[in-house]
Amino acid sequence: MRVFQIEGDWGLNHLIIGSRPNPRPGPGQVLLRMRASSINYRDPIVPERGYGSQSGELPLIPVSDGVGDVVEIGADVTRVKVGDRACPAYFQTWISGEPNANRLTQSLGGPLDGTMAEFMCLSEEGVVKVPDYLSNLEASTLPCAALTAWSALVECGRMKPGEQLLIQGSGGVALFALQFARMLGVQVTVISSSEAKIDRLTAMGADFTINYRETPEWGKAARAITDGRGFDHILEVGGEKTLPQSLRCIRPGGTLSMIGILSGAMISTSLGLIITRQVRLQGITVGHRDGFEAMLRAMERNRIRPVIDKVFAFEALKESFTYIKSGAQFGKICIDHDQ
Ligand SMILES: NC(=O)c1ccc[n+]([C@@H]2O[C@H](COP(=O)([O-])OP(=O)(O)OC[C@H]3O[C@@H](n4cnc5c(N)ncnc54)[C@H](OP(=O)(O)O)[C@@H]3O)[C@@H](O)[C@H]2O)c1
Repeated sequence: MRVFQIEGDWGLNHLIIGSRPNPRPGPGQVLLRMRASSINYRDPIVPERGYGSQSGELPLIPVSDGVGDVVEIGADVTRVKVGDRACPAYFQTWISGEPNANRLTQSLGGPLDGTMAEFMCLSEEGVVKVPDYLSNLEASTLPCAALTAWSALVECGRMKPGEQLLIQGSGGVALFALQFARMLGVQVTVISSSEAKIDRLTAMGADFTINYRETPEWGKAARAITDGRGFDHILEVGGEKTLPQSLRCIRPGGTLSMIGILSGAMISTSLGLIITRQVRLQGITVGHRDGFEAMLRAMERNRIRPVIDKVFAFEALKESFTYIKSGAQFGKICIDHDQ
């Protein structure tokens, strides 16, 4: 079968199209013919061995997210049947419950082989059937970005109608968070880098927006939106430059869901606010399979469709990596395996 793999040595220049023997499903396994993949911020970092030993071993098939047709099942498989479409779960062994070291390390696209292959053979426990209303490209965006937003707001955040949420940026996770927040009846403020993106965020239903390029000290302006009360929940993607601002506008007892460190990983700020405001600082790392299925039920019922920015052909994987690093996207970047 045709695959993209990092071969010989680490580095993007060792990411090439190669071939591997076609896999066959054993007992309890399913064979997916992959139809689409989607790109996350992490995917161009793995080929550079950016996650150290967690990146895996060579040769490695990159990219965590995708969708495929179930074309064969092994003995005793009950969760899917031939003809279904299924997404591989990002964490193959985190089915439900609390995270632990094993559950948080068995991720696709490093250290386990990812979706940029003609076929994937996986445990039936590690795949999730996708609803018919989603296209292949749309379904491919869900395993990491959508589930991260769901875990932050619903699974761990337990957000309720009428609460106030602040979202940072207009990336893949942020747009799913905006869509889920609207579904939950939550009031949403989004900060973004450009007026063009802000117009699109408003069209998607953001209640309030702030341009953080024009207002770098946005914490005060954001607090004013809540009449001084502060936000119940903040989806933190920036880290170093944004966390000090977030601490200025979180309400006492509010939750900061930390999902990214796009502006840097080191922090020098007054940590006292976390104590005196009794803030809950909650790290989020994607989520478990049962959460994925719960999210799909909610998405189907509310007909939530992922926002796709751009689609690349299978051979154009490296171009998609360059594009995601540019930060120009609004929503998800996909790979069509049939192109
Ligand atoms: N914890 C997890 O499980 C998990 C899962 C997925 C992703 N992540 C991480 O979360 C982050 C976002 O992922 P993504 O897939 O949504 O990325 P993405 O699609 O590449 O989006 C990134 C967006 O973040 C916004 N941004 C960048 N710097 C910012 C800043 N200083 N303040 C506010 N917004 C900023 C920009 O939007 P604007 O141009 O609109 O400002 C940018 O387009 C990445 O660091 C990624 O590694 C974590």
